[in-house]
Amino acid sequence: MELYEAMRTTFACRDFTDDHLPDEVIYEMIENARFSPSGGNRQGNRVIIVRDMATRQRLSDLTVPVAKRYRAQMDAGESPWSAWIPTKLTPEQIEATSAPAMLTEPLIKSSVVLVVCVDLKVVAATDQYLDRVGVIGGASIYPFAWSLLLAARQNGFGGTITTLPIAHEPEIKTLLNIPEDHAVCAVMPFGRPVKQLTKLRRRPVEEIATRERFDGEMFTQS
Ligand SMILES: Cc1cc2nc3c(=O)[nH]c(=O)nc-3n(C[C@H](O)[C@H](O)[C@H](O)COP(=O)(O)O)c2cc1C
Repeated sequence: MELYEAMRTTFACRDFTDDHLPDEVIYEMIENARFSPSGGNRQGNRVIIVRDMATRQRLSDLTVPVAKRYRAQMDAGESPWSAWIPTKLTPEQIEATSAPAMLTEPLIKSSVVLVVCVDLKVVAATDQYLDRVGVIGGASIYPFAWSLLLAARQNGFGGTITTLPIAHEPEIKTLLNIPEDHAVCAVMPFGRPVKQLTKLRRRPVEEIATRERFDGEMFTQS
């Protein structure tokens, strides 16, 4: 598939057919995604292929309370789980909200779930002393997750980066025997998309790019 087409049409797939995603394709996805970049090329990436339904049900169950908050915040006009703006909702309001199936069911209804982890011992987190939530460490693993999605697309499959279950990372680590010095970065359902989307909603270049400074001149097509 042509690169730009793949970049523009690799969507968050949450609705899957009953088609099986074979191990050979998963192997090929990882075989190609392993070329993604990481800080200092330290390659702290690890991936766990989860087919066991009881494990996947547990991952979905762990997502429920997190998805409740997601939905409650959306309904209240907040940006869910914002790294900057705290929620004004009470725990009771969140608890009274139902978790959207689209956020919990893909972990059960997909063909397979890939759990992407990173070895914190080799992750360069240059923002670790800043007075804000850390984001740089993620840059050593999310290119890998994105490449898994692109590779799935190349093979006619699809998936989603999900992070909601990771609010309960300790439980996931116990469930999957993940060592303390590794972080869980993405819990990714994969399978055959019911429908291949071709037009994704994204902000135009003019809204996201400026010249020289954050508040500089809008970057437009010349
Ligand atoms: C860092 C990150 C975390 C995400 N977490 C979740 C998640 O927990 N659950 C989920 O259903 N989708 C999750 N998504 C998928 C986004 O909702 C999706 O990429 C976005 O809405 C764009 O969807 P589209 O490509 O289909 O237009 C996540 C995506 C990213 C990049």
